[in-house]
Amino acid sequence: MDAAARPPLVRAAHGVRETQDFAREVAAAFGPRALYALEGDLGAGKTCFVQGLCDGLGIRAAVSSPTFAIANEYRDESSGRRFLHLDLYRLSGPDELDTIGWDDYLDSGDPMAVEWPERAAGRLPPGAVRVRIAIGPGPDDRTIEVDPPPPA
Ligand SMILES: Nc1ncnc2c1ncn2[C@@H]1O[C@H](COP(=O)(O)OP(=O)(O)OP(=O)(O)O)[C@@H](O)[C@H]1O
Ligand SMILES: [Mg+2]
Repeated sequence: MDAAARPPLVRAAHGVRETQDFAREVAAAFGPRALYALEGDLGAGKTCFVQGLCDGLGIRAAVSSPTFAIANEYRDESSGRRFLHLDLYRLSGPDELDTIGWDDYLDSGDPMAVEWPERAAGRLPPGAVRVRIAIGPGPDDRTIEVDPPPPA
């Protein structure tokens, strides 16, 4: 029997806390090996969402925008588990994915979140969980849509 496609999850978040809380729920729903592709304008709250994902997986780390590096690795001190956070905003082109070891990251099976996944063009695996964050109507309001990957 074919596995049924899971419906998208949609949440209205009012303030940073609610965005992070929703991300914790999402982390619990998709488990410790998921790859998240996070779309949304500058300042939409992608990094904020990653903070919740990391926390939801029990990886205690200071999550921040990888401003200069394209990739940040967070390691939980006690468990040694790793979470990968990539921000492709400054990627010069798809070729640079090889320089940063993109395929090794994907093969690692570690949980991973990618901001500006559009920059990775066709190199995002089909199993990625797509997250879209839209700003408004108020300055602290966000609409967050999570599209589960199609059944394997
Ligand atoms: N409901 C909300 N969810 C997330 N962030 C919010 C919310 N309300 C206000 N904010 C503010 O919006 C900003 C989101 O910043 P964040 O770095 O997470 O965005 P980003 O999408 O990662 O941007 P960039 O593309 O520059 O990396 C923060 O300043 C945060 O305080
Ligand atoms: Mg960010």
